[in-house]
Amino acid sequence: MKKFLCAANWKMNKGPTETAEYLTKFLSLLPKSSQSQVAFFAPGYNLPAMQKALQGSSIFWGAQNCYFERSGAYTGELSPLVLQQLGATHCLVGHSERRQLFYETDEDVSKKVSLLQELHMVPMICVGETLEQRNQGKTHQVVLNQITQSLSRAVPEASFVLAYEPIWAIGTGQVATAQQAEEVHQWIRQHLVERIGPEAAKNTYVLYGGSVKPENSSELYNCPNIDGFLVGGASLEVESFLSLAETNLAFAKSH
Ligand code: PGA
Repeated sequence: MKKFLCAANWKMNKGPTETAEYLTKFLSLLPKSSQSQVAFFAPGYNLPAMQKALQGSSIFWGAQNCYFERSGAYTGELSPLVLQQLGATHCLVGHSERRQLFYETDEDVSKKVSLLQELHMVPMICVGETLEQRNQGKTHQVVLNQITQSLSRAVPEASFVLAYEPIWAIGTGQVATAQQAEEVHQWIRQHLVERIGPEAAKNTYVLYGGSVKPENSSELYNCPNIDGFLVGGASLEVESFLSLAETNLAFAKSH
C-alpha cells in the first residue's frame, strides 16, 4: 500500500459535544487493520475535546490556523506554543479561505510554518490557484510562488505537508479530474525533488483537496503523486469521512 494521509477540515462547524460524539463514533468504527494516517483540524474551542477523545490513538489533530508568535498582544489569535502544549501534532496553514477572506499573505504563512516547525509540529500548507489563474495558464506559476514563499523560512529538514487545493474546486462540488490533479501533483513532486532532494521529496505528503467525496476518491487515490486528501464537506459526517480514510484499504481489497 502506498503512503496515505486523510485529513478532515471541519472549518467553522461543530462544537465540543459534537466533537466528542463524532470522534468516539469514528474510533469505534475504524477497522483495527487500518493502515491509514488520519488528521482532524477543528475550530480552536474544540481542541481540548479532541485531545481527550484522541488520547492514546495514533490519529493526528490540530488547529486550522495559528499566529506566528508564541504569545503577546494579538487579540483573537491562537498561540502555536499552547497548541503544542495541548498536544496538537499538526496545524493547517494558508488555507485559501484564510488567504481570501482574512487577507493572509505568503509572508504570514512562512512565519507560521517556521514557528510550528520550531515547536516540532507539522504545518499542512495549502496552495492552489483560482479559476481565473488556471484559465490564464498560471497554475504552475501561482503554486510555485506559494510553495517557495511559504517555505522561505522553513527549518531545514523539518517536515511539512502540502495540500494542493484548486480554489475553484473547494466547496463547489467541482472536483479537479484525476488527470488535472495528478498533473499539478507530479509537477509539485518534481519541484520538491529539486528543493529538498529525491528521498525527502518522496517522503513528503502532497494531499489533494477540493470536493473530495467517497464517489470520486478512488480515481484520485489511483494517482501516483497524490498521497491523500484534505476533506471539507465530506468530513462532517463520520461515515463519509471514514470511507475516505479507508480508501487505501478498499483499494487494496479490490486489486
Ligand atoms: P471541500 O473543502 O472538501 O468542502 O471542497 C476542502 C477544503 O477546503 O479543505
